Amino acid sequence: MKKNLNQKLINLIEYYNLINANFLLSNTPLKRTSDNTTFAFTGPKLERLNQLKKKIQLIKNCELKKNATNLVFSDGNINSKIMIIGEGPGANEDAEGKPFVGRAGKLLDKMLAAIQLDRTKVYISNVVNYRPPANRKPTEVEIERYLPYLKNHIEIINPKILLLLGSTALNALIGNESVISKARGKWIQKEIGAVKPWIIASFHPAFLMRQPEQKKLAWIDLKMIRDKSKILKI
Ligand code: URA
Repeated sequence: MKKNLNQKLINLIEYYNLINANFLLSNTPLKRTSDNTTFAFTGPKLERLNQLKKKIQLIKNCELKKNATNLVFSDGNINSKIMIIGEGPGANEDAEGKPFVGRAGKLLDKMLAAIQLDRTKVYISNVVNYRPPANRKPTEVEIERYLPYLKNHIEIINPKILLLLGSTALNALIGNESVISKARGKWIQKEIGAVKPWIIASFHPAFLMRQPEQKKLAWIDLKMIRDKSKILKI
């Protein structure tokens, strides 16, 4: 019953986004250009994302936050039905406040281009929103701290396809018993809060830079995403 209500609310919000209700009710002049990261006329979804961002900015006693320069929230199209989750920002991401802008990001862009996708067609975020010092992996405690925000982020975007890049994203959202080499390249459908995307895990681009021979497996995963997008009419 509660789930139905949540789904109805999500559908209603999506519908408002679709008909651009915010624009119809607002006096703000029409913005015809996009800065490539967020899109104009996105209504309640954008408001909910901004609220989430504010909540993350209010996190207290977090080592990651204390040592970081910027909050790294997301990049891409907030209306995309394909959401990608990495591990956490590196030095370049911390400096720019945007995920996947460094070398791993360049490889991610190439991987996306191989299946005719780019940042205007996907939405990207990370398990943790502040850079772990010296590029270490986020700890269990840090992952747990950011997980409710990540889940909320996924609920707001409501993707049909969720791509988890690397073991940190896989373990955070699917469970610690999963190993990336075994779990990659398999579709599972799982409830995350009020949404139930199709989820696939693949290797993290930073890992692929160290182990380029694994790119052939990543290519299989990418083709699975391309095929699923067709089936789901994305
Ligand atoms: N690696 C990640 O997992 N996320 C980024 O944003 C950049 C590198």
